[in-house]
Amino acid sequence: SMAEKGNYRHFMAKEIHEQPEVLGHTFGHYLDLAQESLRFGAAEGIDFANATRMTIAACGTAYYAGLVARYWFERVAGLPIDIDVASEFRYREAPLTPGQPALFVSQSGETADTLASLRYCRAGGQKIASIVNVASSTIARESDVVLPTLAGPEIGVASTKAFTCQLAVLAALAVHAAHARGRLSEDEVREHVGILAEAPGYVADALRLEAGIERVARDLSHASNALYLGRGTNLPLALEGALKLKEISYIHAEGYAAGELKHGPIALIDEDMPVIVIAPHDAVFEKVASNIQEVAARGGRIILITDERGAEEVGTQSAETIVMPTVPPMIAPIAYAVPLQLLSYHAAVFAGTDVDQPRNLAKSVTVE
Ligand code: AGP
Repeated sequence: SMAEKGNYRHFMAKEIHEQPEVLGHTFGHYLDLAQESLRFGAAEGIDFANATRMTIAACGTAYYAGLVARYWFERVAGLPIDIDVASEFRYREAPLTPGQPALFVSQSGETADTLASLRYCRAGGQKIASIVNVASSTIARESDVVLPTLAGPEIGVASTKAFTCQLAVLAALAVHAAHARGRLSEDEVREHVGILAEAPGYVADALRLEAGIERVARDLSHASNALYLGRGTNLPLALEGALKLKEISYIHAEGYAAGELKHGPIALIDEDMPVIVIAPHDAVFEKVASNIQEVAARGGRIILITDERGAEEVGTQSAETIVMPTVPPMIAPIAYAVPLQLLSYHAAVFAGTDVDQPRNLAKSVTVE
């Protein structure tokens, strides 16, 4: 109904704009800002100090949140991660080490394959943790440790605020794991908490870019294909950006590791191929910059999502540049999710699709 949507045309738009607030709630649940410490009472059930490996399984957008988190857990906490889409994981017959943690990420907490993966790890004697948005869900009930996202009800089929809140919990959990594993001192934890707490503000800044992104989306809405590229944590964002676009605008889109371009997809590049490159000026920027040159040299139409420094260095190569604020690397995936959401939202509105209820899709996939 109109009332529930407030002044917004679609639930998706409302949910995109709610992000600073619900991220604030979610971080507030896991961070003690006065003490600059973490509040991981519930997660004390996970023995990160002695863990040698953690399994993560999820579907769709929740899986991409897990892919981002793999970089955090491995880099910040030094914990190897085995991650797969739940529909593969549950049938893969992966050997499990009893006692090791397994983490499941799900907005609804009812996704059939994710639940089956959880039960597989349970049967293997693993410690089950879940990040869910619906606290009363089956996945929450069957978990040893439940870490809620405080995103509030998500109505739009395309997941937006649940995704960034999943990233929020995962980032805080990775810092907690790093501390438990002796990888971060008390001082370093305090520093990280300070950085995490800034994420809602950067998301609010990103939302202010909406008018410019809407202009870019008008052109994009006429495309029949699009390629999303990124490296590092921007690779799962590329996958998520492509999923979001195809889900609601029905434009065929693929996310690719920028470094894989030469191994095939570069053959697709011509003037009709929009290439969305997610490239903050981070540790892998120079590598992405050379991929940008490769695309530009073949006439590809580049939509660059970067910060000021990145725009200075490669902005001449792109047809469109969305200039984000300079975001600390740890929380960049949370902020950079926003322009991707807005791009697909506005492309879908221009295309005239049913944004909140796209064809063939259900909000929660409770059957295989
Ligand atoms: C996201 O936009 C999708 N609609 C979909 O991929 C979703 O993320 C997936 O089905 C997982 O759902 P869950 O988080 O409720 O488990």
